[in-house]
Amino acid sequence: MSSLFKGVRPYGEDPVDIRVEGEVITEIGTGLEPGEARVYERDGLVALPGFVDLHTHLREPGREDAETIESGSAAAALGGYTAVFAMANTDPVADNDLVVEHVHRRGQAVGLVDVQPIGAVTVGLRGERLAELGAMARSSAGVRVFSDDGHCVADPLVMRRALEYTKGLGAVIAQHAEEPRLTAGAQAHEGANAARLGLAGWPAAAEEVILARDCLLAGQLGARLHACHVTTEGGADVLRWAKARGVEVSGEVTPHHLLLTDERLAGYDPVNKVNPPLREGSDVRALREALAEGVLDCVATDHAPHAVQDKDCEWSGARPGMLGLQTALSVVVETMVRTGLLDWRGVARVMSERPAEIGGLAGHGRPIAVGEPANLVLLDESAEWTVRASELASIAHNSPYDGMRLPGTVVTTVLRGAVTADEGKLA
Ligand code: DOR
Ligand code: ZN
Repeated sequence: MSSLFKGVRPYGEDPVDIRVEGEVITEIGTGLEPGEARVYERDGLVALPGFVDLHTHLREPGREDAETIESGSAAAALGGYTAVFAMANTDPVADNDLVVEHVHRRGQAVGLVDVQPIGAVTVGLRGERLAELGAMARSSAGVRVFSDDGHCVADPLVMRRALEYTKGLGAVIAQHAEEPRLTAGAQAHEGANAARLGLAGWPAAAEEVILARDCLLAGQLGARLHACHVTTEGGADVLRWAKARGVEVSGEVTPHHLLLTDERLAGYDPVNKVNPPLREGSDVRALREALAEGVLDCVATDHAPHAVQDKDCEWSGARPGMLGLQTALSVVVETMVRTGLLDWRGVARVMSERPAEIGGLAGHGRPIAVGEPANLVLLDESAEWTVRASELASIAHNSPYDGMRLPGTVVTTVLRGAVTADEGKLA
């Protein structure tokens, strides 16, 4: 199988043709002859390494009414992703080798993106006893990221032990930073909007105290820490401080925290309910700057599908979370590219290279160069589209961008030489 992608602009630079044979990029140049190859005329599209999402909730096993590995993989491919890390808060929880191997195999069988399972840090996400981290790392799924996401590993001694173990395994803990004593009953970002709406507040400090504590623990142990969904100006400051001290910490920001603020809560529409919550304009500005600066390493979607009965209900009863895979690129174009904060090299860094490095995922996030695996996304930077939540590939439809016009479209996604999505449809 060979393909020729004509007229594409790697990292937004000069147009070239890219030849792919088998799973590998074999030639880059101008005026390449097709020979036997299937030709894709893609004049002017930006070519980037396929996106890698460090934080995806695929809901399988257990909540196949909200998403499956198949539907989530489809959303990922259509969003320009070639790999996703599947969060462990499934039912049963991915806290042992059997579940992570199942998720991994199912992802391979679907074949649209590489599904790399994340293992739970603690048994049942209960925060008490460490899960079998070694068994998951040694399993055929080769787990390299552990997270209790949805829950914080709140006990400092459990967190310390987890960091010690993962250091030995060459793995990383991805912490959902939320001091639970400070967020008991919380429904919205603590601030003027929550006060006006009568919603109990989720203070910024609940995130920042855990980030600071865990940076100190990781620094002392020489272990690696990854901060899930950093949402506050102070959280970014903690990471900046820790990095300056040489702590091996990385951080992610979600597309929704780069774009949306707690002003969206005025109508009490639970589609805007997410954990951590939408913050204030000053936080959004600080997060964008921290991402441009490299204090935040990557964009991760926290794609969190929820069935209609879990979302279309009163605010306090609704589950937190929003879809993200098919809109991530557009939100990054809107918030980071159109604002001049990132160029296309920067987008490749935050949506592909750094997430692959942090997650220890070989073959992804590689440069567009001869001899490299052909994991690619081709995108139209000048196109715009109107998001229709009901038309997204996910089973659930909880997108906060429904009806919004956004810039930038994914045209073609290529996984190891095979086109997985093309012109808005699965190939
Ligand atoms: O909003 C969220 N949804 N935040 C989380 O941490 C978990 C996620 C989910 O699983 O729905
Ligand atoms: Zn989380």
